[in-house]
Formats: sequence, C-alpha cells, structure tokens
Amino acid sequence: MKIFLSITFLGYTLLSFARSSIGAINTLKPNQHLLDDGRTLVSPGETFVLGFFSFPDSLSRYVGIWLKDDPKRKVVWVANRDQPIFDSSGVLTITPTGSIVVTSQQGSEPSWSSNSSTTSGSPVLHLLDDGNLVVKDGNKEGYVWQSFDYPFDTMLPGMLLGLNNETEERRYLTSSNYKCEVDISGPPQLVVRQGSKISFRSGPWNGVRFSGQHRMREASSRFKLTLVSNSTSVFYSFPNNEENMMSRIVLNATGILQYLAWNKGKGEWDVRFSFPADECDEYKKCGPNGICNSHMSPICRCPTGFVPKVPREWEKREWGGGCVRKTPLNCSTKVKFQKFPLVKLPDKSKLLHDHTKMFSEGCKQGCLQNCSCTAYAQTDIGCLRWHGDLLDIRECRISILNPENEPEAEEENQDQLPLYDWLTIVSATDHFSYSNKIGEGGFGSVYKGTLPLGQEIAVKRLSKDSGQGIVEFKNEVIFISKLQHRNLVGLLGCCIHGEERLLVYEYMCNGSLDQHLFKQARGTSIDWQKRFNIIAGIARGLLYLHRDSRMRIIHRDLKASNILLDDEMTPKISDFGLARTFGSGQLEGITKRIMGTFGYMSPEYATDGVFSTKSDVFSFGVLVIEIVSGEKNRGFCFADHEQTLLGHAWKLWNEGRPLELMDASMEKPVPTSEILNCINIGLLCVQHKPEDRPTMANVVSMLDSEGLELSQPKQPGFFTVVDETDLAAWISRSTTEVTMTTLEAR
Ligand SMILES: *[C@@H]1O[C@H](CO)[C@@H](O)[C@H](O)[C@H]1NC(C)=O
Ligand SMILES: *[C@@H]1O[C@H](CO)[C@@H](O)[C@H](O)[C@H]1NC(C)=O
Ligand SMILES: *[C@@H]1O[C@H](CO)[C@@H](O)[C@H](O)[C@H]1NC(C)=O
Ligand SMILES: *[C@@H]1O[C@H](CO)[C@@H](O)[C@H](O)[C@H]1NC(C)=O
Ligand SMILES: *[C@@H]1O[C@H](CO)[C@@H](O)[C@H](O)[C@H]1NC(C)=O
Ligand SMILES: *[C@@H]1O[C@H](CO)[C@@H](O)[C@H](O)[C@H]1NC(C)=O
Ligand SMILES: *[C@@H]1O[C@H](CO)[C@@H](O)[C@H](O)[C@H]1NC(C)=O
Repeated sequence: MKIFLSITFLGYTLLSFARSSIGAINTLKPNQHLLDDGRTLVSPGETFVLGFFSFPDSLSRYVGIWLKDDPKRKVVWVANRDQPIFDSSGVLTITPTGSIVVTSQQGSEPSWSSNSSTTSGSPVLHLLDDGNLVVKDGNKEGYVWQSFDYPFDTMLPGMLLGLNNETEERRYLTSSNYKCEVDISGPPQLVVRQGSKISFRSGPWNGVRFSGQHRMREASSRFKLTLVSNSTSVFYSFPNNEENMMSRIVLNATGILQYLAWNKGKGEWDVRFSFPADECDEYKKCGPNGICNSHMSPICRCPTGFVPKVPREWEKREWGGGCVRKTPLNCSTKVKFQKFPLVKLPDKSKLLHDHTKMFSEGCKQGCLQNCSCTAYAQTDIGCLRWHGDLLDIRECRISILNPENEPEAEEENQDQLPLYDWLTIVSATDHFSYSNKIGEGGFGSVYKGTLPLGQEIAVKRLSKDSGQGIVEFKNEVIFISKLQHRNLVGLLGCCIHGEERLLVYEYMCNGSLDQHLFKQARGTSIDWQKRFNIIAGIARGLLYLHRDSRMRIIHRDLKASNILLDDEMTPKISDFGLARTFGSGQLEGITKRIMGTFGYMSPEYATDGVFSTKSDVFSFGVLVIEIVSGEKNRGFCFADHEQTLLGHAWKLWNEGRPLELMDASMEKPVPTSEILNCINIGLLCVQHKPEDRPTMANVVSMLDSEGLELSQPKQPGFFTVVDETDLAAWISRSTTEVTMTTLEAR
C-alpha cells in the first residue's frame, strides 16, 4: 500500500513537473510547485486558467483567472487587485497552513494572502472548470476557501450575489468607484451605486425576474437568474444558459452592468444586454413623481393631478425637480386611484408580508386607510405600498391617462391601452411606402418602420373591412400586450385613426420561418442547431400560452409564416388574430367558424370545429416535421403516392428509415439521435386522436431530455390529401379581459 502510494505520488509529481515545464499545471500543493509569472494553472477541462497578467496600459502584474480560449484574457477574477507586483518576479504559492500567497521574489512579505487556513496539513489548490479557485483541506469535503466568495467585477454561473443579513456577509461586484449589490430595503433588487449615489436599479424582483424595463426582464429570463432567499439571506445566482454557452455578468468601469456570452466562433465575449439601457434607466431621471417613457417625446411627464415642480426647468428638459400635486393630499381628501401599466415599479416600496393584505382589495383598502400611503401595487410577491413621493417610475408603453372627470366605468377598460400617434406611424413607415412593406396576409399588410429614436418596429395595418369595432380592437390589444414571453413577438402598442386600425410590434430582422425553411423560398439552409433551437423555442412559447400565462390560450393558427425570427434566430410566435382563451377548467371549445390554415389544422378542428390545446399540439407537430424536412406539409408532392408530408414521415417511420425525412441540405455532421428524437416527438404530436397527443409540457420535457425512451406514435391525422374546398372558413376573434400587475396611485 505504501509503495503503491509513493509510486503514484512520484508519478504525479513527475507529471506535474513535466507539465509545468511547458507552462501549465493542474493543482498546487505546498512546497511542491509554485506558479511564477509566465506559468498558468489550468482547470481540468481546460476552460479556465489562472496566471499573471497586466491590465491594458499598465505594467503592473496581477494574478487572475480568464477563459483559456480568450486571446484578450478578459479576467473574471483578480487576487491582488490592490497589491500589484511591479515586475515579472511574482510567484504564487500555497502555504502548508492553506493560505494562497502572492509574493514578489525580492521581498519576502506576501503582497497578497487569502488568509485561509487548513488543519490537516495537506492543503491543495484547484482551479475548477466553472472558474472557481478553491483550497481543499486534504481529502475533506467542501472548500476552506473559494474565489467565488470574493467577487471582483464579474459574476459567473454558480456564483452568488447578495447578503446574509444575520452574519452581515455581503457579496457584490465592484469596478472603479461603482458597486453593484442587492438592495433589500424593499423587495430585493439589484442597484448600481457610484459612491453612495444610486445610478441604476433593476426594479424589484417580482418572484420570477426583475420588473425593470423589458430588456431587463428578457436578460433575467435569458440568463435564468434566480433568487434564493430565506429569513436571513437573499442571494442571486444563474446557471449556465440554455445553449450551454459560457456566460457572465460584469460591472464595467463606467458603471454599466453587462450580460456577456462567450462567442466561440469569434473568440470573444459578446455583450448581450447592458444596463442602463436608455435614458429612462437613469435613476430618478424624471425626479420625484415624474414618469419616464422612452417611447415618448419628451420622455418625462407628470401624472394626472400633478404639475412640474419648477416649470421653467421642465421646459428646458431639466427633469430633476420632478412633479408635485396640484392640491396637496390631506387625511380628509377624497381620493381616486389612477392606474399605470408599469414595468418598473417605483423605488422604496414596502412589501407587506401580512397575508390578509395579499389580495388586491386588501392591498387597496390598507393604502386607503393610511393617509400617508400614496400608491399600492398588487404583485406576484404580494402587496407593495409606497409612502411619500414616488421615485424612479418608468413606463414601457405609451398609454392614455384619463382626464380626472372621466366616468369610472370607462376608466376600467381603457387605462391600459398602449397607443401610438397616427402621424408618428405615418412618418415611421414613410407613408406606408411600398418599399417598407414586409408582408401581407388575410388581415392586412405589414410595414417596417423606424421611430424617431431609431427603434425599429413592424406595423400591421388591418384591412378596413376587418369589421372590428373600436371596443373589440382595444380589448384585443390589451389582451395581447399582456402576453410577455421570449418566444412570443412583443406587441408595443396600437394606433386608431378614423377607420384605420394598426398594431405595432417589435421588428424581427430575420423575417418569418417559412422564408428560411422551405426549399422553394430560401437562399441558404439553416443548420440543425438553429433548427433545434427554433423547435425548442416554439415549444416554450406555446407552453406559456397553454399553461403559464394567466389564462389558457389556444393560438389556433400556428404555422411557419407565423413564427418570426430575431437577429439571433430566436423564434417568436406571432399573430394572435385567431387566439381563443379558456377559463379555468375549460378544456375544449367548439366553433362553427373554422379558421386556420390548411396543412396545420388538426382533424377534429378542421372537420368538427373542436379546438383545444391539443389542436395547437397538432399544428406544432406539423411544424416540427416541416423543420426537420425543410418541406411544406401542404403542397408536398411525393411522386408515387397521394400522401401529405405527414403521411410520408409516417411511412418512413414504419419502414424503419425515419432519417430519410431529414433535409439533406443541412450542414454535416448532424446529431442523428437528436433528429430522431424530434421526428418521434413530431409524430406523437400529430397523432389522429387528441387524447393520444402529448401536452406542450410533455413536449418541452421530451425535448430537454435526450436519450429518454419515447413512446411509439400511432397513425397521424390527415396523412392523405383531403379536398380542402370542403372545409369552410371565416373569422372569429376573442375579446377577453385580464388583469395584470398595475400600480395605482392617488
Ligand atoms: C489577510 O490578512 C492581512 C493581515 O491581516 C490583511 O492585510 C489582508 O487584507 C488580508 N487579505 C484578505 C484577502 O482579506
Ligand atoms: C436585516 O437586519 C436588520 C438589523 O438586524 C433588520 O432591521 C432588517 O429587518 C433585516 N432585514 C431583513 C430583510 O431581514
Ligand atoms: C439561509 O441561506 C443561507 C445561504 O444559503 C444559509 O447559509 C443559511 O443557513 C440559511 N438560513 C436559514 C435560517 O435557513
Ligand atoms: C462599459 O459598457 C458600455 C456598454 O457596453 C460601453 O459603451 C463602455 O465603453 C464600457 N466601459 C468600459 C470602461 O469598458
Ligand atoms: C384637506 O383638503 C381639502 C381639499 O382637498 C380642503 O378642502 C381641506 O380644507 C383640507 N383640510 C385640511 C385640514 O387641511
Ligand atoms: C401609515 O404607514 C406608515 C408607514 O408604514 C406608518 O409609519 C404609520 O404608522 C401608518 N399610520 C397609521 C395611522 O397606520
Ligand atoms: C439574421 O439576422 C442577422 C442580423 O441581421 C444576420 O447577421 C444573420 O445572417 C441572419 N440570419 C439568417 C439565417 O439570415
């Protein structure tokens, strides 16, 4: 045993020295190895390295960690950031008592020490593949010290940012004179401070993500930021993101919070999001009680019943003075709340943990009963209240405020409507010029437009004969505007002008899926990874509609031309013109007015008008088969038999050669097991009987877990060509009201 041990030990030592002679080693032990300037410690999977480096424009040497593949050596952690070594004589060692020390060879005093200590006498320093530098005490579990506990300007997946209120332990990011930390004076939020002054805040955590502007929400869901909290601690963390890409959050030297992802192809860190993102993100841009809206010009305004505190300054666009009430409130004033469809709730709220106050009425009554209460909001995390001035409010959309004397009933329906001005749209689309036209459908034409601040939009101009009244139209706009998901196209607002009805959407620069997918239409073929991401994205968007939004929504017209793609080819489900909502408990509906698109409609819907989440699942299945094959279900002609694409897929499946369905023009090699998995899922979704089809929740988990044994599909619906003219079709639309988080202020 002893011999064996010493042999491996010797082997290990030799190996280590062999490696160190070419510059890289894996672990450090006391008195055995040292890391001098020029040599690096490499994580086992060769993702991160630890070594000496200099910041640009400086000769001083620091010890830091960076991504091995990063030629620019952007450091994610620095040890001796305040105690640099002034030449290349620096050495990093681990002492027999377990401290990591950085010394300059001339001086014996360490420049920097981790001050960690071990008891066993055999400490080992490891650099892990997640970028964490750790000191282990012999073979004991856990770490005596880890760099993740001492963040610099970077948060890596797995790292925690926040505080333990009991031990007063805080983890925050710092960069020049900026600091990014978790603020728990109200519901937890991230704030960036310059000295003691707040420069940016994320908006309170709403239970799922930050409630700041939409980019903030998108960033927190994209990076899957999560909040872990208990009675004493509040910490944020994020896992590695969905594409299994390396990502990090950085507070840069100018106080900008950036979300970065490693771009393997380009060999650099891409900035995916950065905050503050626009003027309205600047803390208290519009002063106390002022409301910031970056889509409006001017960006600041006062709520109804308020006037600029210093009108002369406001005229000069100096907003800092904010707004004051025309008539001061006192305890005997009769009040009425105004509603704001906000994304970023004002700062300095009080979260009431009292569960009897959790419900909207209780929240409102509680505010009414305390005459210092100025606003309340019922949110997913509970009832929030504000006392005194409202600070740092921003709206994401343009909305109408009601004149003070407008009747109550009307207020209820209109106050959340995002409205654009007709002339703004006319000039954005250059008078709906032909060159800006990007699409045409049964509902009207779609134009590309550019708002004065440069934001690109897509404007859908509904045909005048759509026959929809103003009330129905507004209801629909409010309804759609509340659906917020990364895989649904974002409605920004609408415009009503005489007979004109316009819907304003985010502009998607890569157009619709059909333009990329079908052989007839496209230029180059999209690779499998993109196709898979598109399938998975559509599945998540549909799951949100079916299950995660506040009501059950059946899209009813899912098809390739209704899937739009952004600059990163992220799919966004669009066109809710036919969507229907179900109340809780309702599982299916019947319509005599069958609308949809042939080729995507399920048998029970096309023939009997029965629709349910399972009819959307059918359409999704058709899409999956189309995405795999690059062929259209409708219009597919296979020389020797009268079959649809589904029939063809079913035939190949039964003959044991499903991979022949695959689009041959895809870049090789392709992961065949993933493709088989998708074909199997697609066929399960298009099974004839709705009850045999999986739910979207099943589909999402089947897509996530490759290698899972999937069930054998039964015969699909519509596998032979049907006479489409037998099926009648016309329009029906939903008019559904929902409530969402709104701030009400008095
Ligand atoms: C380690 O201890 C020394 C002496 O107490 C102190 O100056 C230094 O800041 C400590 N290092 C760290 C990383 O906390
Ligand atoms: C944190 O601790 C302080 C003082 O001990 C206490 O007043 C405060 O309520 C605590 N906050 C939270 C969120 O637990
Ligand atoms: C709260 O969470 C922290 C961090 O995970 C943990 O250290 C602490 O023991 C927890 N406290 C309680 C009371 O559960
Ligand atoms: C910080 O990030 C912003 C936005 O990404 C960038 O414009 C700025 O130059 C960065 N500052 C530094 C010092 O890198
Ligand atoms: C309270 O305000 C109302 C008008 O809003 C005013 O008529 C009344 O005199 C005020 N009461 C007090 C005590 O200031
Ligand atoms: C009103 O709310 C404030 C802040 O929470 C509190 O300090 C005050 O005691 C409350 N007043 C009454 C009458 O409840
Ligand atoms: C999608 O759009 C981006 C940005 O406009 C462009 O670089 C990319 O080539 C487009 N992708 C495809 C497949 O057209």
